[in-house]
Amino acid sequence: METTLQAIRAPKYKTKIVSDLLIGNHVSAYQLKKITGKESIDGSKIGYSPTDIRRIKVALYGIDENQKNKNRPPIINVRMAKGGTGKSLISANISSAFAMLGYKVLAIDGDPQASLTNILGVDSSAEDIVHIGHLMEQFDTKNTVSIKDALRPIYPGNMLDLIPADITMTQTDNWLISRLGRDLIFDRFVINTPDFFNQYDVIVIDSAPGTTLLSYNLMAACKTILAVAWLDRESVKAMNLLFSNIIEINRAYPDKKLDVEIVANGYHPSYRHCKEALSILAETYKDLMNENVIPHYSGFVRQQSFLTEESKGPLIEQEPNSVGGRVILELAKSLLTRYGITLSGFDENIKPNIR
Ligand SMILES: Nc1ncnc2c1ncn2[C@@H]1O[C@H](COP(=O)(O)OP(=O)(O)O)[C@@H](O)[C@H]1O
Ligand SMILES: [Mg+2]
Repeated sequence: METTLQAIRAPKYKTKIVSDLLIGNHVSAYQLKKITGKESIDGSKIGYSPTDIRRIKVALYGIDENQKNKNRPPIINVRMAKGGTGKSLISANISSAFAMLGYKVLAIDGDPQASLTNILGVDSSAEDIVHIGHLMEQFDTKNTVSIKDALRPIYPGNMLDLIPADITMTQTDNWLISRLGRDLIFDRFVINTPDFFNQYDVIVIDSAPGTTLLSYNLMAACKTILAVAWLDRESVKAMNLLFSNIIEINRAYPDKKLDVEIVANGYHPSYRHCKEALSILAETYKDLMNENVIPHYSGFVRQQSFLTEESKGPLIEQEPNSVGGRVILELAKSLLTRYGITLSGFDENIKPNIR
């Protein structure tokens, strides 16, 4: 999809970080330079962009990039039946982490609060926004959908694109309620628009906490919900509520077989309630817990200060080597396997040998 807009940021990563991004492999600085043709003449540090990292993987693994994804990419719908658990934070950071790993990412903001939109660097209050509700309505009622009016390139080369949100998305349910087949309009939109959606390796969707028709649409389009549980006493209750939504979808659409992966967020070793909540979750939902627990970390709060000088996108983009950044990267790597995310059809977890 051609868009005339400039990408908002162009992150670059140092050699040391990039050599860790090849799962199960180590690559020398020499190999990285050779593949990308990058040399620093003045001896300064070389920076590799997400596009460079993709190029490196394509070369090392011998991936045929022309072999377009025939199937729709895996969809990660980040959900919890409660606000303030870290959904937007995790959506933004895993989206950035996948791009950093060389995967093409479409991020969709499904919350009228527009936190994902703002963390990624689009000012939802000041700009004209075409959101996913608008696109679904165009798809359902007209012949053409103007995706390019909605799409915001965050990183160059379509490595991270965003369909943003703003407060007007609260209207989407008013329209959805009048439509027949209202739960599956988003699902049909994705299936019937392969030229656009299939160019990405993964789709990450942030959601509002409420059980709205829009949130049902977003859930019903994916296979595995990524539930973000904040580690306090409420988390188990909120988890049960989310489960009742999932049971309802599976009852209405038995072939969907929707399931859940749970990520615990906000762990702090000196708070006893964190440990309690984590052990209750682990006991109640043992097979569903992701092995990574996201720490309570001050860097995540800094990234929230949008519209200030220091706002520069998600933490992982700024401080990939920080405590928080490293856990996010591990989480993203684990999700590659969990969701079957491939690089143009190539699974680097299964065939990690470099040519
Ligand atoms: N692991 C964490 N460490 C520190 N602050 C966090 C963490 N996770 C979330 N927060 C903070 O909590 C608030 C709510 O997070 P957010 O991602 O907006 O939640 P949600 O999208 O679920 O409503 C934000 O201010 C965010 O910076
Ligand atoms: Mg949010």
